[in-house]
Amino acid sequence: MSSTFSSPSDPSKLPLKPLPGSYGLPFFGPIKDRLDYFYNQGRDKFFSTKIEKYKSTIFRTNMPPGPFISSDSRVIAVLDAISFQILFDTTKVEKRNIFLGTYMPSTGYTGGYRVCAYLDPSEPNHSLIKRFFISLLVSRHNTFIPLFRNTLSELFVELQDQISDKGEANLNDFCNTLAFNFVFRLFCDKNPADTKIGSKGPTMCDKWIAFHLAPLGTLGFPKLLTLLEDSLLRTLPFPSFLIKSDYKKLYDGIYTSATAALDQAERLGLKRDEACHNLLFMVCFNAYGGIKTFFPALLRWVGLAGENLHKQLADEIRTVVRHEGGVSFGALDKMTLTKSVVYEALRIEPPVPYQYGKAKEDLVLHSHDAAFQIKKGEMIFGFQPFATNDPKIFENPDEFVGHRFVGEGEKLLKYVYWSNGRETENPTAEDKQCPGKNLVVLVSRLIIVEFFLRYDTFKVEEAKELLASTINIKSLTKASSI
Ligand code: HEM
Repeated sequence: MSSTFSSPSDPSKLPLKPLPGSYGLPFFGPIKDRLDYFYNQGRDKFFSTKIEKYKSTIFRTNMPPGPFISSDSRVIAVLDAISFQILFDTTKVEKRNIFLGTYMPSTGYTGGYRVCAYLDPSEPNHSLIKRFFISLLVSRHNTFIPLFRNTLSELFVELQDQISDKGEANLNDFCNTLAFNFVFRLFCDKNPADTKIGSKGPTMCDKWIAFHLAPLGTLGFPKLLTLLEDSLLRTLPFPSFLIKSDYKKLYDGIYTSATAALDQAERLGLKRDEACHNLLFMVCFNAYGGIKTFFPALLRWVGLAGENLHKQLADEIRTVVRHEGGVSFGALDKMTLTKSVVYEALRIEPPVPYQYGKAKEDLVLHSHDAAFQIKKGEMIFGFQPFATNDPKIFENPDEFVGHRFVGEGEKLLKYVYWSNGRETENPTAEDKQCPGKNLVVLVSRLIIVEFFLRYDTFKVEEAKELLASTINIKSLTKASSI
């Protein structure tokens, strides 16, 4: 796959233009934009209409939730692969309290602490906590592959039984249990079933996450009731006591199981309870929330790509596993198509679509063809699916091309941004890139490998429901050769 990209010859020569777009009247402008965003146009059309109208991928707009949950909803949207990169430069943008955008849920949801994701790297606690996470990952590196494979094997039995009994299996439920059991066992060294969390971990996390994200969601009310729905979700924040008892169960389950991790945190200089609230957020929001969103999307894209791609994946995976004598880091690294398929799913549907950053100084933003001056304190907002589907970088960006990142295509990996950084770079304690980046890529390759070691092909179907869409596996065809 060749690149269509030619870099903006010299960004300093791009014409400096007035920044298009407007915020409208106070209060009414943000409300109009959010009704367009959720109900009148829908998310993607909201952005593409403005790109068309302003003939620019950088413009001013309001972003939900707006009044009264966020006190200032004015942002400068960056919607191409070039301007988006400003968000990774923490010398230029501040990331304090903007993990979810223009509002921050009460710290009552996180034990009274501002956890790592809300901290700017200029705050000393950020690098301390992130170092804790990175050291935890390093100490568990050798467990990644065997633990993930074991957790998955147990669940595959249930998946097959469900398909035989009911003619289909809910892939979202499967991925939720897989994600929670794997990350809990990895970081807390215990099976959650053996703690007071039991089998309720995914449900408790889903509820707790939903309260954080409620101002950015919809409930699927009929059209007549959209104004009611909108004001219910976005007028006042939901108080954290509503979720207190589930949070306490998760906290106690982690506190009593993750003794080795918490000892490690104390040695680094963190207080034990602050470390535990941070570990909870990392396990239940960042890691569980991220993986449970991405796996169904990955398997849907691969499932829908059809039997030809399945055959190529099965051939590659089985040949490498035979030659290497098993599934290892080395073996996974040789699977070029499998790697590419994972990167392609992360590119076409980045699981965390929004990133924010507040300008730390006056600066110049540039897109492919123009430059704009912005002021210190202005909020920059990136909608990632537009940046990683930028037609000036990726040929046929809306198409899932399994081979896109094979061979020469690897050069395009620097435009894959799902981890809040370039795929060619690695997270550090001093930046805001996802510390789980390499783990996520690894387990995503592993789930593809395990599918095609067991099965020749599989079929998926998407079912739209009231609150979300569900992916079902309709059939699994057992491997004809290994
Ligand atoms: C598919 C799964 C995942 C996705 C899509 C994902 C994505 C992201 C993104 C986009 C950010 C940056 C958010 C921002 O500041 O704007 C982030 C931060 C973070 N992620 Fe992940 N992540 C995933 C899995 C994980 C895992 C497995 C871990 C466990 C180590 C993890 C831990 C974190 C932490 C602690 C942060 C905050 C980093 C900081 O404040 O410097 N994530 N993640």
